[in-house]
Amino acid sequence: MKIKFLDLHAQYNSIKDEIDSALSEVLNSSSFILGPMVAKFEEAFAAYCGCKHAIGVNSGTSALFLILKALGIGRGDEVITAANTFIATVAAIAETGATPVLVDVDPVTRNIDLKQIEAAITSKARAIMPVHLYGNMVDMDRISAIAKKHDLLVIEDAAQAHGAAFRDKRAGSFGIAAGFSFYPGKNLGAYGEGGAVVTSDKGLAETARKLRDHGFSKKYFCDILGYNARMDGFQGAVLSVKLKYLDKWNQERNGVAKRYREKLEGLSVTLPTEFRDSYQVYHQFVIETDARDELQSYLLDNGIPTLLHYPIPIHRQEGFIKAGFPSGSFPVTEKLSERILSLPIYPELKDSEVDYIGSKIREFFER
Ligand SMILES: Cc1ncc(COP(=O)(O)O)c(C=O)c1O
Repeated sequence: MKIKFLDLHAQYNSIKDEIDSALSEVLNSSSFILGPMVAKFEEAFAAYCGCKHAIGVNSGTSALFLILKALGIGRGDEVITAANTFIATVAAIAETGATPVLVDVDPVTRNIDLKQIEAAITSKARAIMPVHLYGNMVDMDRISAIAKKHDLLVIEDAAQAHGAAFRDKRAGSFGIAAGFSFYPGKNLGAYGEGGAVVTSDKGLAETARKLRDHGFSKKYFCDILGYNARMDGFQGAVLSVKLKYLDKWNQERNGVAKRYREKLEGLSVTLPTEFRDSYQVYHQFVIETDARDELQSYLLDNGIPTLLHYPIPIHRQEGFIKAGFPSGSFPVTEKLSERILSLPIYPELKDSEVDYIGSKIREFFER
């Protein structure tokens, strides 16, 4: 059997007619940048997240960067985030001139270690940026309590958590604002680059709207110095169609995760933990084993591609080492990077394929 790590084509086929007609609407209206399709998506996505405003931008990285800029965070400020995240979380902070302060992750949640945050807070700290990695929500009650105690802003990096919830509130609705990515492989993915800022803060929404479009309040009237970070019309059109299916797709991802758990039961692999207070959306299904490299090549030999999220922790990346974090600075993150393996997970993955992947993992351990 030959498995795909992700099958975007299968997903397109399942909604082809709707997508094609939405795209042709953009073609016929020539609303290629922002325009009505983006506005329609913004309205729907804000409501979906339980926020008042959504601002469509050209990537998740831009979304995080524009939130920080809109809040006036920059040189001399510190923003606390998880050591185990995608590089863009940290790059967005650094790009403002602020200093990213990394905190190691918890070995069970694999998200920012709540017990270690307070020790990382200095007088320069302005914000905490929790990352809901792999679609698993950070305990937002605890984050909010820490932020309140130390007078910090909370900015969620929800790039991997579309539709995830903590105690019935969706990702994106907890802090002052949140950044989403619509990179094609995300749970809600565009057909190109895309991202969104969501917030219920009117002033922040207005500033972010200006910042994404050269600081314009109206065309060619520049209130503040801004950027070109606009969402294009095709992405607004695609995302509007796909948003209607997000809950169903997230449920199907949960179905795949459940089936993996059954198939992998009793093996010496660590499975992702399920948490009572949250609904996780399995952007990735990440297992852990000391025999990671051997398992990965065994699976590949059997037609099963896997990925590592992420193979090298940010503080050990060439572009970041100069910030002065020696090996051993974040032991949990470092250990995870040696043990993690992301298995294929997407709504269109068939039961027979999950069973095949499960059987090959079992075969590997029982050889
Ligand atoms: C946790 C996290 N933050 C930020 C980003 C950045 O999003 P984008 O690739 O759309 O810029 C991603 C995307 O991969 C992500 O996974």
